[in-house]
Amino acid sequence: MNVRLYVWQRGTAALMAPLVLVHLAVIFYATRQGLTAADILGRTRGSITWGLFYGVFVLAAAIHASIGLRNILVEWVPGLRSRAAALISTAFGAVLVALGARAVAAVVLG
Ligand code: HEM
Repeated sequence: MNVRLYVWQRGTAALMAPLVLVHLAVIFYATRQGLTAADILGRTRGSITWGLFYGVFVLAAAIHASIGLRNILVEWVPGLRSRAAALISTAFGAVLVALGARAVAAVVLG
């Protein structure tokens, strides 16, 4: 794998580790407090902090997963050119960004 992709994949993994922990902590907190969906949306709507938090999370996951998918394609699909693997994984990453952005918009913008 080229060094740049390696650095991006490890970098996004390192970034996601604390984000996952905060996300889990928030889930535990919301569950323990018995918050309803409406309570949660009441806190996330209009929040720049949560918008940035989940926006960065979505971007990191999309970059990380698409680089990982590219590696798997190159390793497992015989005869697949690296350019084709790059195209497929970039398209996959773009779908993840679009779906993730939609989800973030739904909880932050309403
Ligand atoms: C906290 C979250 C995550 C961490 C810390 C993490 C960490 C890592 C690391 C260190 C690798 C490199 C493994 C290697 O090359 O030996 C990796 C590979 C990979 N990750 Fe993640 N990851 C996370 C989340 C995700 C998510 C959410 C996805 C998919 C949506 C994903 C998909 C992949 C794929 C497809 C690979 C490539 C596996 C391979 O090369 O064989 N990861 N991850």
